[in-house]
Order: sequence, then structure tokens, then C-alpha cells
Amino acid sequence: MSDPMRPPASHPRPQTASPRSDPSRSRAALRTAVVWDVLQDALDRRVKATGRPALDVLDTGGGSGNFAVPVAGLGHRVTVVDPSPNALFALERRAAEAGVADRVRGVQGDAGGLFEVVERGGYDAVLCHGVLEYVDDPAEGVGNAVAALRADGVLSLLAAGLGGAVLARALAGHFTEARQALGDPDGRWGTADPVPRRFTAEQLTGLVEAAGLRIGAVHGVRVFADLVPGVLVDTEPGAMEALLKLEAAAAELAAFHSVATQLHVLGETRGAHEA
Ligand SMILES: C[S@@+](CC[C@H](N)C(=O)[O-])C[C@H]1O[C@@H](n2cnc3c(N)ncnc32)[C@H](O)[C@@H]1O
Repeated sequence: MSDPMRPPASHPRPQTASPRSDPSRSRAALRTAVVWDVLQDALDRRVKATGRPALDVLDTGGGSGNFAVPVAGLGHRVTVVDPSPNALFALERRAAEAGVADRVRGVQGDAGGLFEVVERGGYDAVLCHGVLEYVDDPAEGVGNAVAALRADGVLSLLAAGLGGAVLARALAGHFTEARQALGDPDGRWGTADPVPRRFTAEQLTGLVEAAGLRIGAVHGVRVFADLVPGVLVDTEPGAMEALLKLEAAAAELAAFHSVATQLHVLGETRGAHEA
């Protein structure tokens, strides 16, 4: 894993900011730093392997472009599929503000009916971030994401982790809800839980392998960030930088996957692995 404070080569990482300059933007960067570093490394490897500086990237459930816009900032062409017209409108505005409107295309659609709106087998990389929690059929969602890849391609899958939610409920004193999430087939802590479904690392890697990819890497995301009182991070000099480095170090360790708020799985086609 690269230095978590290192800016990407050609574009600032999503929502990045000087950690001391704007606490809310810094916390946003904290939420995306691990995923961004893994994703950027994967895209860089695809660029080298294909010899094409501009890749075709699909962001299924890409929303308002948290990742799509910075990926376009790296020079890639990004298609965002999302069912929400509001999200697509925000995406358009954000892409224009970032000066990448010519490389970002928003399409209304959903992960289940992906090939009604995009080409099968047409993408070097597919992002599926924060979407599997909401789709009707996660196996179909992953299967479609994989079917959108070229023979040599990479899947970036991010989803809510079960253990992180259990830990967060317990540390907030909601012990019954924590136990409920632990035993619930969808990992929900109750009827008021806004997240319809959570996953273990084994469930996510199982979905990716069942869709025919090999697992390139698994990372735990937001292992500590959501548990640490914001005031500690915002007021202590150097705390944000230190926390980013801690998150990056813990992300790679399987021991922390079971308590991460989110899990990131990189899936690779055989061809992409051998390239
Ligand atoms: C938590 S947001 C994540 C947005 C973006 N991927 C990100 O990482 O910032 C979930 C997104 O999934 C979209 N979504 C919900 N159901 C979907 C479905 N069935 N197929 C595709 N996207 C869906 C929502 O509209 C929303 O934009």
C-alpha cells in the first residue's frame, strides 16, 4: 500500500484536502483514502498492461461521482450507471466543475438491468461501490459487473462490513442491536437500520469468485475512523495524518477485516492477472 498522504500522480484523491484546513473534507478523505489508493494502483497497472493511457471505466451505482469524477481526472473515460436522476444531475455538475465533463457519461439504469444501458464486455475496470447493499440480488449485481469487463479487466467492489456495524452499535451502548446484527442473515441491527444488507469478507470474496474472477486483494476500510471521536482528529496536530497511516496499515491485515465498516475486494480476470 502506498503512503496514504501521497496525492495521486495526476489528480487529487477524492475529496482530498489539507488535513488541517477543513475537518469535514478531511474526514471525507479518511473514508475514501484506502479504496482510492488500491483503485489507483489497479488502474495504473491496467494502463501499463494495455499500453492505453485512457481506460474505459464503468461505475455501476456510481451516484454523484465520488469516485467517477476523480477517476476521470486521471484521464480515463467513465460511464456512471445509476437509477437516481438526482445523483446523475449532481454527477453532471460535479464533472463540469472538475473540468472532466467530456470524459464522464451518466446513464440512468440499475445493476440488475445493466446491459439494457451499457455494453457487455466493454470495460477495462468496473467499480461497484456501496451498491450491493441495495440491489435485489447481490450475486446478479456482481455477475453483471464482471460480465461488463473485457477479457483483461479489474473489478473494484466496496460494500458494508458486518463486523464494523456490530462493533459500532456495541461501542455506542446498543448491545441488543449489536447482537441482532450479528445473528441477522442480512447483518441488520433492526428495522430502523438504514442499510438493507451487510457482508463478511468471505461472502464478498465468494461472490467475486463465483462470478469467475480471482481475488487480487481484500482491504478493510474505516477500521478506526468511524469509532474515533472527531475532536481528537480535528484538534490534535498530526492526528489526521497518523490516523490515515494507521488505517492504511490495518487495511491489509485480515485480522482487521472482521471489524471494518466497509470491505474492499479487488477482483481480476485471469488475463489481467497474467498481464
Ligand atoms: C451509497 S451510494 C454509493 C455511491 C457511489 N458508488 C459512491 O461510492 O460514492 C449508493 C448508490 O447506489 C445507487 N443504487 C441503488 N440501487 C441501485 C441498483 N439497483 N443498481 C444500481 N445502483 C443502485 C443509488 O442511487 C446510489 O447512488
